[in-house]
Order: sequence, then structure tokens, then C-alpha cells
Amino acid sequence: MLLDLTDRRVIVTGGARGIGLALVESFLAEGSRVAVLDLDVSSLDPLVASHHGDLVAIACDVRSEDSVSSAVAAAATGLGGIDVLVNNAGINVQSLLEETSDAAWTRCFDVNVGGVFRVSKAVIPYLKEQRSGRIINAASFAAVIPSVGSAAYAASKSAVVQLTRVLASELGPWGITVNAYAPGMVPTAMNGFAELPTAQQDELLDTLSVRRWEEPEDVANVVRFLASDQAGYVTGALIDVSGGKFATQFPARARG
Ligand SMILES: NC(=O)c1ccc[n+]([C@@H]2O[C@H](COP(=O)([O-])OP(=O)(O)OC[C@H]3O[C@@H](n4cnc5c(N)ncnc54)[C@H](O)[C@@H]3O)[C@@H](O)[C@H]2O)c1
Repeated sequence: MLLDLTDRRVIVTGGARGIGLALVESFLAEGSRVAVLDLDVSSLDPLVASHHGDLVAIACDVRSEDSVSSAVAAAATGLGGIDVLVNNAGINVQSLLEETSDAAWTRCFDVNVGGVFRVSKAVIPYLKEQRSGRIINAASFAAVIPSVGSAAYAASKSAVVQLTRVLASELGPWGITVNAYAPGMVPTAMNGFAELPTAQQDELLDTLSVRRWEEPEDVANVVRFLASDQAGYVTGALIDVSGGKFATQFPARARG
């Protein structure tokens, strides 16, 4: 199946590093034109320079309505319109509930849920006008199966899933699809999985049916599909790209 994403105009929030950066590179490789919205985009200067107008990088804090509205306007100008929004920006808060500060809880929701709300709201008029588009939201397996110490993060990602479903219903009549995806465990700056002691890494990997760390490209493969014409009948869905986190309780038993 060939996914033709040539000249697709794509916004990726949080695209300066981690999974977001892999999404940016993967859309560029397909001939799409990409705008990155992130807190600090200076690290992208060499990539912007080597992509001759196909990549624009815009400083933006998804917690601020003003910052988002001017960044989305700049992205639309830079790309000549908007076809796809990937709401990837997110933060992790890990602490027992009784040790979670009010500020950490609020920040987690402000970025993870508020960011999806604000950037989607700013992009929707562009998509409605052309009666087509894709909104693709980073959820997490934590939205379905949370871990100890993930109250703020897991609750925020569950909220992203519900927001996705509501938005899918509201935008369906305009030919716009809205989906969420649930990565499993991609070692990034957010979680430091790859730096854990081997025994802890083994414990985490034993929860997976596909027993390896997830690559950012595993996520990008799903996101590119959701962005494509071929995904036109998929909406309001949470796509599991977790290597089997949802599949069974004790996948390690299959390995004897
Ligand atoms: N890494 C994983 O295993 C994993 C698993 C499930 C879900 N996810 C989700 O995938 C997304 C990307 O995760 P990652 O591991 O690449 O994280 P990361 O920390 O490496 O990257 C997150 C990016 O978001 C940006 N960002 C943070 N706050 C922002 C704000 N207020 N405004 C604009 N940009 C902001 C950061 O600057 C950074 O570039 C997140 O939404 C995360 O919750 C990741």
C-alpha cells in the first residue's frame, strides 16, 4: 500500500526531539511540508536549513492561547495551509498521588490536554474551510492501563482519548478525522528507559508481547497511516502501537 503524503501540510507539536522529531523526519521523507511547534526550536536550525522551505520551526508554548494562535497562523502562512495536525507535545509527571503537587498536576493537564484543546481549536477553521483534514493525538497505553505513580499522566492521557472521540463526532461532517494513538515504551528524554539498570529494563520489557523497546519509527508508521487518504474511514479511534501492552497479562510466559 502506497501512502501518498507528498505536499501534505503537517503541523507537529513538540517536534524538536524524541518521537516528535522522528515524526517530522518521517513526514519530510514522504515529501510532506512540516511546521514544528515547540518551546525551543533552535536545535532544528540545521534541519530547517537543509530542507529549503519544506520545514518551518516556530517557538510555541501549547499552554498559552496567544502563543498557539500566532504559531498556527505562522505555520499556515509558512506551509500555505494546513492538512494534518499531530498533537505530540506532552510531559510526564511520575509521583504517588499524595506526593504530587498541585502545580505538577495542573502543568500535566495544561500541556497534555490543554495543548491538544488549544492547538486543535486554532487549526479547525483551516480544516473546516477546505472540508478535509486530519487531527492525530498522542495518547499512551497509560490511558488504558496506568501504572503506580502515574495518576496525573494517565488521567491526562485518558482525557486526550475522550477529547479525541468528541472532536471526531463534531468534525466528521466536515470530512475531518480525529484519532489518538497509544505508544508503549519508546526510550526518550521523557522516561530515560534506556538508562535504567538492566534488571529494571528486563522487568519492563517482560510486559511486552513484542519484547523490544519501541522505536520512534514504529510510532511514525502508524501516524503516517492515520494522516493518509487510506485512513479516511478511521475516526474517533485509539490505535494501539504498544508492542502488546494491551494484549495479555504475562507475555513472558510464552518465552518459557
Ligand atoms: N516515549 C514514550 O514511551 C511514550 C509512550 C506513550 C506516549 N508518549 C507520548 O508521546 C509524546 C512524545 O513523547 P516523547 O517521549 O517524545 O517526549 P519528549 O520529552 O522527548 O518530547 C516532548 C516534546 O514536547 C515538547 N513540549 C513539552 N511541553 C511543551 C509545551 N508546553 N509547548 C510546546 N512543546 C512542548 C518538548 O519540548 C519536547 O520537544 C508525548 O505526548 C508522550 O506523552 C510517549
